[in-house]
Amino acid sequence: MPRDRLSVVVTRRLPEAVETRLSELFDVTLRDDDTPMSRSELIAAVKSADVLVPTLTDEIDAGLLGQAGERLRLIANYGAGVDHIDVATARQRGILVSNTPGVLTDDTADMTMALILAVTRRIPEGLAMMQRGEWTGWAPTALLGGRIAGRRLGILGMGRIGQAVARRARAFGMQIHYHNRRRLRTETEEQFEATYWESLDQMIARMDILSINCPSTPSTFHLMNARRLKLMKPSAVIVNTSRGEVIDENALTRMIRAGDIAGAGLDVYEHGTDVNPRLRELPNVVLLPHMGSATLEGRIEMGEKVLLNIKTFADGHRPPDQVVP
Ligand code: DGY
Repeated sequence: MPRDRLSVVVTRRLPEAVETRLSELFDVTLRDDDTPMSRSELIAAVKSADVLVPTLTDEIDAGLLGQAGERLRLIANYGAGVDHIDVATARQRGILVSNTPGVLTDDTADMTMALILAVTRRIPEGLAMMQRGEWTGWAPTALLGGRIAGRRLGILGMGRIGQAVARRARAFGMQIHYHNRRRLRTETEEQFEATYWESLDQMIARMDILSINCPSTPSTFHLMNARRLKLMKPSAVIVNTSRGEVIDENALTRMIRAGDIAGAGLDVYEHGTDVNPRLRELPNVVLLPHMGSATLEGRIEMGEKVLLNIKTFADGHRPPDQVVP
């Protein structure tokens, strides 16, 4: 089919430059307002489109895929994580899935470091003090945080983003430790001077800061459950820029409130926008609204990846970023 006849439905507002480019190339239906599609809108979209461009706020489950029309052949996700898409069912139905890896690595790793620093150096508390006009001047004992140089950083999930975090943390003088399904090549470990822990439990028990950088899959659901959170040192901090489901949020809240964990920096939550209200009350918890990849450059590059995946597919080839279940 000629590219300009390919019907592409985009479920969310995207940066203008991306929407313009998509419209130049394909027969695109764009979203008018910046809200997620309702279930019925999603059903209408999968019934009519050749290509669906969803985001992580759309639940592309087996029920929805069961309603897809004959035409739907590609789900070109605008985002790296595909935990909201039932990739196995899509495959069974002959629908390809692609994503946008690589282009949000640096931005997400930057945000991980920002959270580490925000929690350990108490930046939000300082900001709040300034905003309330309560600063009375420098004091030797005011807002003392913890130094990160020399601290042990445990990275749970040493893929692209985990390695980008390691690179940055090395520059801050931290000691890099990691746990991953597969051990990295020796050269890569040497590059980060990283220590591999086959036992996640043993690593957790020894870290000063734990960074969650693994994807959300059935096997990583509540990987940081109450038992593992209890293994953390009471002085340790946990940060999560990956997916909320990896941490048992209620258990984490209980433990921070009890002083069993020193603090947390979270960009993602187990139940989406339904954030445990008790987390919001804690001064040693820094909460962000899932903005790890939120740079204009990153979002445009994500759009370029989506475009390339659709173009390649339209030309009769496998999308370069095809996701295999
Ligand atoms: C993704 O692409 O999966 C990211 O979480 C978006 O920030």
